[in-house]
Amino acid sequence: MTATAPEHAPDIIETFRGVREDFTRLMLSYQFGMDEITTKIRILREEFDKLHSYNPIEQVTTRLKSAESVVDKVTRKGLEPSLSSFRKITDIAGVRVTCSFTADTYRVFEALTGQPDVRVLEVKDYIAHPKPNGYRSLHAIVEVPVFLSSRTVNVPVEVQFRTVAMDFWATLEHKIFYKYDGDVPPEVVLKLEESAETAAQMDRDMEALHDSVHGPRDFRERDRQDDQVISDDVVRKLSQFLSGEGG
Ligand code: GTP
Ligand code: MG
Repeated sequence: MTATAPEHAPDIIETFRGVREDFTRLMLSYQFGMDEITTKIRILREEFDKLHSYNPIEQVTTRLKSAESVVDKVTRKGLEPSLSSFRKITDIAGVRVTCSFTADTYRVFEALTGQPDVRVLEVKDYIAHPKPNGYRSLHAIVEVPVFLSSRTVNVPVEVQFRTVAMDFWATLEHKIFYKYDGDVPPEVVLKLEESAETAAQMDRDMEALHDSVHGPRDFRERDRQDDQVISDDVVRKLSQFLSGEGG
């Protein structure tokens, strides 16, 4: 037995195909924007490590919002259900940079946002101005160009910079908060706030300790002796070559 398709079926299939294609294109561009940012962060990390003998970045993670949560957010914000509304959601692509110390979060932020192809759309400094619940992180919405085969798209990416201690707090707070489905008892709220302060104190102590042991970090100084990119032997040959003694 064969079922006859209703007359409007081809339209629906066409629409379906169109939505799939548009949405795939859109989500791909966010993936690429995220890739551009992570590459930039990776380059900074390698450069810091190889040339300044100090790596300020502990971890980099990424996440792409699912189609469902983009739709939820569009609805929550009261935007009309169109693809252009999706473009108003600036945290579809997210990169989280976990740094060693508070000063590093600003340093990496500046190194990234100072690049000529990175346009800063918004900055929220929850380190200088923590949220009432104690949340700390430096947030930036940046826009990067993504070069596709036939056009260039500017993609917004949300980048969060935080220390290991801030990340520890935020990760666990998120878990606790979700358990209560937004209705957190006041004593838990207070405890979380106190824990955030403890984490912040630990950041200050560890940074002071690090600087007292290693001296203040000077990113312009090049003092790495071990793990060199170019061996002494090659440097010797290069020096001879450049001074015209090679041959
Ligand atoms: P939304 O993006 O709609 O959430 O609002 P917003 O743009 O005002 O958010 P904001 O920039 O303040 O925060 C965006 C992201 O930061 C969230 O998706 C979380 O990853 C993180 N964040 C913000 N506040 C908190 C918090 O209180 N606890 C935790 N664990 N994470 C937070
Ligand atoms: Mg946001």
